[in-house]
Amino acid sequence: MSNANSDLFHSTQLGPFTLQNRIVMAPLTRSRAQSGDIPSELAPLYYAQRASAGLIIAEATQISPQGKGYAFTPGIYDDAQVAGWKKVTAAVHAKGGHIFLQLWHVGRISHPSLQPDGALPVAPSAVQPEGNAFTEDGFQPFVTPRALALEELPGIVEQYRHASLLAIEAGFDGVEIHAANGYLLDQFLRDKTNLRTDNYGGSIENRSRLLLEVVEAVTALVPSDRVGIRLSPVSPANDIADSNPQALFSHVVEQLNRFKLAYLHVVEGATGGPRQVDDGFDLQILRRLFNGTYIANNGYDLALAIKARQDNLADLIAFGRPFIANPDLVERLKTGAPLNALDPDTLYGGDARGYTDYQALNAA
Ligand code: PHB
Repeated sequence: MSNANSDLFHSTQLGPFTLQNRIVMAPLTRSRAQSGDIPSELAPLYYAQRASAGLIIAEATQISPQGKGYAFTPGIYDDAQVAGWKKVTAAVHAKGGHIFLQLWHVGRISHPSLQPDGALPVAPSAVQPEGNAFTEDGFQPFVTPRALALEELPGIVEQYRHASLLAIEAGFDGVEIHAANGYLLDQFLRDKTNLRTDNYGGSIENRSRLLLEVVEAVTALVPSDRVGIRLSPVSPANDIADSNPQALFSHVVEQLNRFKLAYLHVVEGATGGPRQVDDGFDLQILRRLFNGTYIANNGYDLALAIKARQDNLADLIAFGRPFIANPDLVERLKTGAPLNALDPDTLYGGDARGYTDYQALNAA
């Protein structure tokens, strides 16, 4: 059987959208935004080059100045950013693609130099992460964040609501709520980072509350079949952990079913690392619990993706790094063509090099 016979390459329905195939471009931080956290002038070309993906999930994008945690990442909270993103969505749509925006608040994974007025990053609790922030002056150690007051939480929900409004105004087909990889919503979910004693901490129900309020607010504005969510139940990314992730994430997914979301997008394993990290956790439980489209991500290659479809382990498969080096990844997978190698030195920051200059087969 040739690769092309796999239904990976057949069109499929995602909410109101007919996707060209079941291959998703995962959100990828590239740190090339212009001053004002406006998407790069090259971003329309970069994304349009990759528009043969069934769905593009654009890079993580801060929903407020406070939500920023890395140098040169784009935002979605003001009109200049909306104007920049409009060029991106128009370019992708002109190529027949579909594109969602990933809504990001980093919480404690930031640094005062990236925050308004040099403020401390905010988090559920004042627990300092191990590791370093990527600032405009290079890597700097994370600091102890400031615990959000109960009275501030409606303002966090409002940041997601406002950003989703602007994302739709900017022409995105939908939004992905980033609740993975140790950022703010994940920090609330996990008992390593959430030590609160109010209604937003303690029990699994309480730790899930902020996430579900965000989902409720976003789906009140954006039709729920245009809203996805990303979780990374077993990833240790950004110094995150939980004493009982299986119970926590089973609860989260059961609650998410109420909203009839477009999809659940799961980082299977350690973000950007091994797929197997915790033998005690069965990710297929989440796939089976979720009543909707399941997007699997992390370390997939063609063989693993075809197998996942054959065994119905996932509906769509998201590829990350392979999409950076191969704008025509779908065509290459379909024909079994070799893949370009990724240049790790041009992943973050810089110019067209390693961004828009990877060649497609037919252009080589
Ligand atoms: C990264 O910049 O490496 C990064 C950003 C967002 C993620 C994961 C990794 O969710």
